[in-house]
Amino acid sequence: MKGLKKIFKNIENYCIIDLCEGMCFIMKKVLTGLQPTGVITLGNYIGAIKQMVDMQGKYDSFLFIADMHAITVPQDSIELSKNIRSLIALYIACGIDPEKHTIFLQSENIYHANISWMLECNTYYGEVSRMTQFKDKSKKNANFSVGLLTYPVLMAADILIYDIDYVPVGVDQKQHVELARDIAIRFNKKYGDIFNVPDALITKSGTKIMDLQDPLHKMSKSSDNQKGVIRLLDDEKTIRKKIMSATTDSEMSIVFDPENKPGISNLINIYSSLSGLSLAEIENKFKESNYGTFKKEVADLVVGELSIIQKKYYEILNSDLLDKVLDDGRNKTLAIAKEKYELMKNKIGIHR
Ligand code: TYM
Repeated sequence: MKGLKKIFKNIENYCIIDLCEGMCFIMKKVLTGLQPTGVITLGNYIGAIKQMVDMQGKYDSFLFIADMHAITVPQDSIELSKNIRSLIALYIACGIDPEKHTIFLQSENIYHANISWMLECNTYYGEVSRMTQFKDKSKKNANFSVGLLTYPVLMAADILIYDIDYVPVGVDQKQHVELARDIAIRFNKKYGDIFNVPDALITKSGTKIMDLQDPLHKMSKSSDNQKGVIRLLDDEKTIRKKIMSATTDSEMSIVFDPENKPGISNLINIYSSLSGLSLAEIENKFKESNYGTFKKEVADLVVGELSIIQKKYYEILNSDLLDKVLDDGRNKTLAIAKEKYELMKNKIGIHR
């Protein structure tokens, strides 16, 4: 009986997609978010958005703009609000179908911050101060905010509110999703069965797209040298130039070997992520080619994919569609989050 009750409790949190002969099939839930800090990169696209596009229709999907995470480091307010609108247009331009995802702005759902606080009170300083991203970012600016430290707890709230099963992210965010798991397990142990325990979803080829000039470091929006970073709105000439001048080794063979040949391996990874070919198929396809020929093929593929995205982006950037999508997302997620918030408050004992 206890087991049956648990199933019913969980079913409320899922989207039931089919019912036949007394059996119900339940859609698993996925969620991911991106920060609106400048034009997103090819790494963000491959690591997070493309995964969401490839999975659409198969999961109950939540996609949001992590604007509250963005302010953990200083931002220009005019730029930030411009980037928020740009990012939602980019989601849709990249192939995200608003009918198949709940798309929302994190700051428009006040429960994220409230729930994050309750989770913070159940998270240890040692856990958050150990996070690699915190260590890296706090090293860059000694005057870092407390928000930078508690960043992964807000991220846990984003995920746990909606009882998410899978979180598609690049490999750099895996540690944060693991912390969300730990927090969920601890909270459930202390207060009862409140959260689903999520898993990170990381594609094999897109785990980490590296900087084209410095292939030992990830391609990042905030990189000092923009020559190594492909932005989704870069024009064709710029994209070709960046790929053709990507750092490679002094050999000639197109072989995937990230340790000894990080530059060419990164280009193989990009090619694999966009073409769907396996690493072995790519090595075989280009076994007679030199680096120049291969780079041109990579550039053709990237330009082909991004030109379609850019055309759609400029068509929808100023349309009413974006506000409608965000309004719908806000209304839906507020209702779900309020329920979780009330449940947590009751379990913790902060109510009249
Ligand atoms: P952000 O905007 O820094 O990164 C967004 C996503 O892009 C992935 N990514 C990459 N993937 C492959 N190669 C790269 N070079 C590369 N660079 C970035 C990141 O892993 C991420 O998946 N903390 C999140 C935002 C967030 C979030 C969440 C994500 C807030 N709450 C809840 C999932 C669930 C972030 O890193 O954003």
